[in-house]
Amino acid sequence: MSNKRALITGITGQDGSYLAEQLLEQDYEVHGLIRRVAQEDPAKRLGRIAHIADRVKLHPGSLESFASVYRVFAENEFDECYHLAAQSFVAESFEDSFSTMDINVSGTHFVLEALRQLRPECRFYFAGSSEMFGKVVESPQVESTRFYPRSPYGVSKVTGFHLTRNFRESYGLFCCSGILFNHESPRRGLEFVTRKITSTAARIKLGLADKLYLGNLDARRDWGYAAEYVHAMHLMLQQDEPDDFVVATGVTHSVREFCEVAFSELGLDYNEWVEVDPRFYRPAEVELLIGDPAKAKDKLGWEPRTSFADLVRKMVASDMEQLSAQADHATGHTARP
Ligand code: NAP
Ligand code: GDD
Repeated sequence: MSNKRALITGITGQDGSYLAEQLLEQDYEVHGLIRRVAQEDPAKRLGRIAHIADRVKLHPGSLESFASVYRVFAENEFDECYHLAAQSFVAESFEDSFSTMDINVSGTHFVLEALRQLRPECRFYFAGSSEMFGKVVESPQVESTRFYPRSPYGVSKVTGFHLTRNFRESYGLFCCSGILFNHESPRRGLEFVTRKITSTAARIKLGLADKLYLGNLDARRDWGYAAEYVHAMHLMLQQDEPDDFVVATGVTHSVREFCEVAFSELGLDYNEWVEVDPRFYRPAEVELLIGDPAKAKDKLGWEPRTSFADLVRKMVASDMEQLSAQADHATGHTARP
């Protein structure tokens, strides 16, 4: 059991919510940084952490404000900082690259600088991404694979990665980057392709939708289960030396295959329901990602456990459960056989 104190930026996100749960289970005092938004209903605003909201300490602040980040570190002593907050949607980064850069690059710089000035003993985790490999120069991708980002988001994460390493090497801070490949769960945002597929397939099954419009069905991703991936973040900060790690399953599937499995789980043929809409194509695409998690296995003792099929099943089942109640109340909608 531990009495450590951790700060999670991005605690309201998919990963932040799983990590907060896991740290609480290990008796951590868990703090989170949250920005103000117009949504005032706490059940919705804090939806992913509603069940633990009374056990975490939330601090107002934004990655866009150095003063707010500095204040949180000035007023609290942390043993570990998990910097997960980001503009994390790749498609949005093409729409608004400047905000993405501000939040992901300057925001990361703010956290590192506050840490350096005020809490140099605090261990730091940076949420790096397989999107940094972009137009991959080798497969599978490992820690030493050269980065070739294909989106403003990817560029921002490469910069965050280098900042993190530079603070480690320049100032001796305990800074680690996880290079995490795509990880999903029932808590995944609805705009990401996996959750878009499982939630819309469930809606189609329940008679609440008639079509699923997608972009590039041939893109391939190495998809794992988010709850397992946040465990790897924690392990990185428990090592004797700071280092960077690829976290992945080593297996790749296409968006089309994800559709096949999700729809067939509901007794449907995806060919009848999925339509390609070029609006969802990206200006530059990452066609293939597949990671080699050997170093994480060797040094952290971390291994993925949930298979692709089980992950899809878990997400479909959760969306069916959530949407069924809604369908029951909707008039004129009948579940498809
Ligand atoms: P997510 O669900 O989109 O969560 C992002 C979090 O960042 C939310 O809590 C959000 O808060 C917060 N945030 C965004 N802008 C902020 C700002 N200006 N100030 C303060 N907080 C801000 O992302 P995720 O899937 O959990 O991913 C966590 C991290 O891992 C991200 O850095 C992401 O880029 C990275 N990553 C994710 C994956 C993946 O497959 N999931 C893979 C590799 C790397 P609000 O609730 O206010 O929006
Ligand atoms: N979102 C979305 N919507 N993606 C689509 C669609 C669609 O309608 N149709 C096809 N795709 C394709 C995208 O073009 C991309 O190739 C793939 O599905 C996955 O897209 P996302 O689920 O949006 O994830 P991502 O791979 O771009 O980014 C996620 O993973 C990164 C790690 O590699 C995010 O979680 C990033 O934050 C993360 O760093």
